[in-house]
Amino acid sequence: MKITVVGTGYVGLVSGACLADVGNDVLCLDVDPAKIRILKGGGIPIHEPGLLEIVRRNVEAGRLFFTTDVERAARHGTIQFIAVGTPPDEDGSADLKYVVAAARNIGKHMDGYRVIVNKSTVPVGTGDCVREAIVAELAAREVDFPFSVVSNPEFLKEGAAVDDFMRPDRIIVGADDERAIDLMRELYGPFQRNREKMLMMDVRSAELTKYAANAMLATRISFMNELANLAETLGADIELVRQGIGSDPRIGWHFLYAGCGYGGSCFPKDVKALINTGHERGHDLLILNAVEVANEVQKLRLVDKVVARFGEDLSGCHFGLWGLAFKPNTDDMRDAPSRIIVAELLRRGATLVAYDPVAMDEARRIFGDEPRLAYAERPMEVLEGADALIIVTEWKEFRSPDFIRIKQTLRHAVVFDGRNMYEPSVMARVGLEYHGIGRR
Ligand code: UDX
Repeated sequence: MKITVVGTGYVGLVSGACLADVGNDVLCLDVDPAKIRILKGGGIPIHEPGLLEIVRRNVEAGRLFFTTDVERAARHGTIQFIAVGTPPDEDGSADLKYVVAAARNIGKHMDGYRVIVNKSTVPVGTGDCVREAIVAELAAREVDFPFSVVSNPEFLKEGAAVDDFMRPDRIIVGADDERAIDLMRELYGPFQRNREKMLMMDVRSAELTKYAANAMLATRISFMNELANLAETLGADIELVRQGIGSDPRIGWHFLYAGCGYGGSCFPKDVKALINTGHERGHDLLILNAVEVANEVQKLRLVDKVVARFGEDLSGCHFGLWGLAFKPNTDDMRDAPSRIIVAELLRRGATLVAYDPVAMDEARRIFGDEPRLAYAERPMEVLEGADALIIVTEWKEFRSPDFIRIKQTLRHAVVFDGRNMYEPSVMARVGLEYHGIGRR
């Protein structure tokens, strides 16, 4: 099939590359010439395991192309994916200007039937905006090509995006007409060989499904964080509580890890956007309001512990930091707890040295020229001369460090662990003072 993907961010590039990998003829469009230059040069503009290989393989096979030419893109694919950003505007609602611009470009240049598939996370009702934009452009051209608008939200996780696309749990398709439904079935056939994974519904329900999924997961995390904070005051251990409730199949094991808060490009933005949608419709989403507030508070939880141990004024204190990315296997620091933690420690006068396997370039870009924040080449380097170690991201390489060496190198043998990576009993045995989140 001939497919166009508008937007070469995480969602667009992963979708385009994976769709090419099963034999489709895919053209990816981006308005950013720098991104297209990187892609044409055989690289990728993001860090995502496995993606570079798929992109290269399909470019070489002549199935995956990149362009900044909107006219060529609109004429290429019968299926036109829109996978552009929907950044929050000042009040937290999703800004649709890129989605609408993409739809307009399609309307301006399409020369036959098109299925316009929304993959960006967009507020309920955006399908109608896309339809209106295309109708307006076709009317201005005085032409009348048929088209369908489909909502097909993406559930991929950064760091596991290729696998999530290739082996999805479910494929949500919101569509109102048979022609589009048939094409979507054909398109996703290769990704559901063992069982039917497609859930067909109307466009609005599909749009809301995406927000509902992320909001539910964010709610689980904030709930566990709140209980973790309570557990500390009760002398209970949140890890044991997690195992105790996760074994109930109605609750399940996933997304019950307490920590220093959720971050990333989706949860914070989508929770805010859904709260806003509620306001627009006269509904105060009480639970989600609390989920968001609890997460903001949680991001400072580690700093609260540092302050309780070292005092309000941290000038003269020096800390080593492990992890900057909002989660492992990505260099993404959008809404990462590390941003709040670093800023607050600096504000209180501390000096810091940080290590992250891939996000340090991104951190340099974000924190700029900050004389009290340095970076280390190796994890153990951050310990030298540090009063304590602070762990913010649970990278695999931090799982089994040499605890004796940590103890010997740190000035105060104190570890603040925002991701509950270690067993308090093990830490006690080696003589490290250990502060987890909700641990006994
Ligand atoms: C998420 C959704 O999982 C994905 O389906 C959607 O398409 C986009 O948003 P992503 O943002 O890549 O994906 O990250 P995810 O792995 O879900 O983690 C989000 C945040 O929650 C991270 O900061 C992570 O550290 C935190 N988290 C996750 C917890 O604090 N506890 C948990 O139990 C799970």
